[in-house]
Amino acid sequence: MEHLRRNKVCDLLKSTEYGKEVLVKGWVRTRRGNKNVQFIALNDGSIIHSIQVVIDLQQFTEEALKPVTTGSCIAVKGILVESKGQGQTVEIQGREIEVYGSADPETYPLQKKGHSLEFLREIAHLRPRTNTFGAVLRIRHAMAYAIHKYYNDNGFFYLHSPIITGSDAEGAGAMFRVTILDPKNPPLKEDGHVDFTQDFFGKETNLTVSGQLEGELGAMALGLVYTFGPTFRAENSNTPRHLAEFWMIEPEMAFYDITDNMDLAEDFLKYLMQYALDHCMDDLEFLNNMYDKELIERLKQVIANKFERLTYTKAVEILMASGQKWEFPVSWGTDLQSEHERYLVEKHFGKPVILTDYPRDIKAFYMKQNDDGKTVRGMDVLFPKIGEIIGGSQREESLEALTRRIHEMNIPEKDVWWYLDTRKFGTAPHSGFGLGFERLILFVTGMANIRDVIPFPRTPKNAEF
Ligand code: 4AD
Ligand code: MG
Repeated sequence: MEHLRRNKVCDLLKSTEYGKEVLVKGWVRTRRGNKNVQFIALNDGSIIHSIQVVIDLQQFTEEALKPVTTGSCIAVKGILVESKGQGQTVEIQGREIEVYGSADPETYPLQKKGHSLEFLREIAHLRPRTNTFGAVLRIRHAMAYAIHKYYNDNGFFYLHSPIITGSDAEGAGAMFRVTILDPKNPPLKEDGHVDFTQDFFGKETNLTVSGQLEGELGAMALGLVYTFGPTFRAENSNTPRHLAEFWMIEPEMAFYDITDNMDLAEDFLKYLMQYALDHCMDDLEFLNNMYDKELIERLKQVIANKFERLTYTKAVEILMASGQKWEFPVSWGTDLQSEHERYLVEKHFGKPVILTDYPRDIKAFYMKQNDDGKTVRGMDVLFPKIGEIIGGSQREESLEALTRRIHEMNIPEKDVWWYLDTRKFGTAPHSGFGLGFERLILFVTGMANIRDVIPFPRTPKNAEF
């Protein structure tokens, strides 16, 4: 059997080379039929559709077919023919079957279709074999590729920011400590605190919450950079939109002001939606039919409409005048919750919204301060069904203003001396933002829970696989 090259199902389903001998390898989704003929739906992951293998029982013994169960992995050599059945254009007349591995029908967890997403989370090691997760994972791949393509085509350089960091200045969230000290018996200083000078890096280290600060260092040399890597937040947020380990795309641009920043964010998101429509239609159609009847329409809507841009202050006025009952009351100075963000996007404007000029007290130290002394040049992009998908800002490039701010916020200067150096030596106006990769995938797939758009979700009390 080995002299033939494996044909991928995605290629065979497009082929019209009827009569050709082919070799397919994959996992059996179903086997049905009667005493004379059996039909095997074989999926190899290259595409959502399975290919039908027709088995003439005069050529195979029952014994030979016994291990060909749902979930088993097989190789089939056969002839590609035009299909007489409905729902497919080609099928394979099986000639030879090799079973790589059977799957016991009594114990294989994906024996039947239609498992709940909650159940599938408990078998995250097997769920990629379902149509749903195949579709999500292929789209996830396509989006990662499109992100690199977008930035490469626009002259940005991919900067690898570190995953282990000695800085916790960003303040984006609680951090996971990285240490090799013995938790039962750590070395102590005279004052009784743990002596981290004896730790691996000679200081306290954590997993990064964001690559931004390093991204800024890169932008102050290369001009246009982006990071794309895993980030970690140790908050106990058990929501459908939070992960403890998630991926973030963070472009950082020298000489961009907040308007350039918004233009880039909008163009970037629209490019990604268009890329998905152009390259992932099979998977999108499946998800549209199974989970979210408005998915494809919603992607097109995002591309078709200019995002609404307004200030936080204006948004708060709209929310306060809305007459809605909120779980979290709104007033100027409070952080907006996803119920508020979604009201603006879904009810009030009916399209994505970019809010700017937030109160400085609810935003990070590095955001550029406005002349009013109260607000900063931050921006959040809000999406239907998601709420915040992007957070970013123009950065404070003035050494004096930045130093004043870090003192006000009690950030020790010694922790950020290297960051302050960029403002000391050749400072430049610049801006950037962070796109949560899984929030993007939530939007593009129409899935409702962020645990279902990453292969192995990390959430409080959950790191089994
Ligand atoms: O708004 P955030 O915290 O911004 C930053 O980290 C900045 N340093 C970004 C920058 O300017 N370079 O996070 C950015 C985005 C959010 O808008 C959201 O999409 C996503 O990251 N995000 C999360 N996604 C999943 N789980 C979490 N716990 C997330 N926290 C933030
Ligand atoms: Mg944010």
